[in-house]
Amino acid sequence: MHLARLKLRDFRNIRRLDVEFEPGFHVLLGRNAQGKTNLLEAVYLLATLRSFRGVGNAQIIRHERKAFFAGGLAIGQAKNDIRYYWSAVQRKLTVNEKPIRRVADYLGALRTVVFCAEDALLVNGPAKSRRRFLDLLLTQTRPGYLDLLHRYTEALRSRNALLKRDSPDNVLLDSFTRELVGNGEKLIVARREVVKKLSPLIRLGYRKIAAKPEDARIDYAPSVREDFAVDLAKSRIREQRYRSTLVGPHRDELKLSLDGQAAAQYASEGQKRTFAIALKMAQADYLAGIHGSPPILLIDDVMGELDAGRRAGLVPLISRVGQALGQVFMTCTEENWPGELSDNLHRWQVDEGTVSREG
Ligand SMILES: Nc1ncnc2c1ncn2[C@@H]1O[C@H](COP(=O)(O)OP(=O)(O)O)[C@@H](O)[C@H]1O
Ligand SMILES: [Mg+2]
Repeated sequence: MHLARLKLRDFRNIRRLDVEFEPGFHVLLGRNAQGKTNLLEAVYLLATLRSFRGVGNAQIIRHERKAFFAGGLAIGQAKNDIRYYWSAVQRKLTVNEKPIRRVADYLGALRTVVFCAEDALLVNGPAKSRRRFLDLLLTQTRPGYLDLLHRYTEALRSRNALLKRDSPDNVLLDSFTRELVGNGEKLIVARREVVKKLSPLIRLGYRKIAAKPEDARIDYAPSVREDFAVDLAKSRIREQRYRSTLVGPHRDELKLSLDGQAAAQYASEGQKRTFAIALKMAQADYLAGIHGSPPILLIDDVMGELDAGRRAGLVPLISRVGQALGQVFMTCTEENWPGELSDNLHRWQVDEGTVSREG
């Protein structure tokens, strides 16, 4: 899959951009604060309708303006002409000129995997960051998963609101509980399956980057131990005290370990970064396996964070995606990696929100 065209209007510091991209490896070079990350953010936004920086769309609108536009032509098995207009009062999303009303109907027109500074949270951050990683991957691969997640979250919200009351209505509580359990059980099954498939990919990816026999493992640790309904019933007394739902997929953990030790506590900074990259590489490999072609890789300043040995380990993994009809976008301030990235390399200079071809 590749993005053949990108069009931006008033997107952060990018006033106006119309550019065509071939398949292959694209390096975006430029000094700090020129708009390199903004460009990757735009591609990611077209794929997911949200920013990887964890901010709302309002912040993306160029200062002093009222709306942004992002459009792209994604070419995979199908051609998708995506157009997304966003202002505080109006949002319009079309694919091949057909309006899309539900986000769940949209995802899949463009697939990306992003590597960025925020990935550190996958190892160091709260369990929520890791749940989000699994959920995004499942959303990208399983029709219906996003709807399932929404229904679960909605049931959880209603149930928690009820538990906050002084004397919750038991009939209502039972009905929210049933909704919670029904959807929650499906979430658990899906997460367990995807972790099982990711696990060997992560192990392998980590070894390739680190070039050391360290054993990177992920283990799914569901909040539900045996049976969701039974566990919930057992937590009733504690629930009354805390006035909220204490077991369920919203409390799941994905445990990361290196040679049997919890990565967040024991791994060095370099090992943690490697782990985060291995998680993202595994996501990309998994998506490629399911959809028959690799997702677009968006790599933001990652090279600068790795030592020379690890850079040398990562280069062949990402170059592979830049071969054939795959596509990689990688930002950097200088070219600091060993050897050629790809025989299909394109260089772009990013300067104050404009992009021009180099060489
Ligand atoms: N909504 C916005 N409107 C205008 N400029 C913005 C907006 N958001 C961020 N910027 C500007 O974009 C620049 C940072 O771009 P970024 O892509 O993060 O830089 P880098 O090239 O270092 O990756 C900064 O100068 C910042 O002020
Ligand atoms: Mg940047």
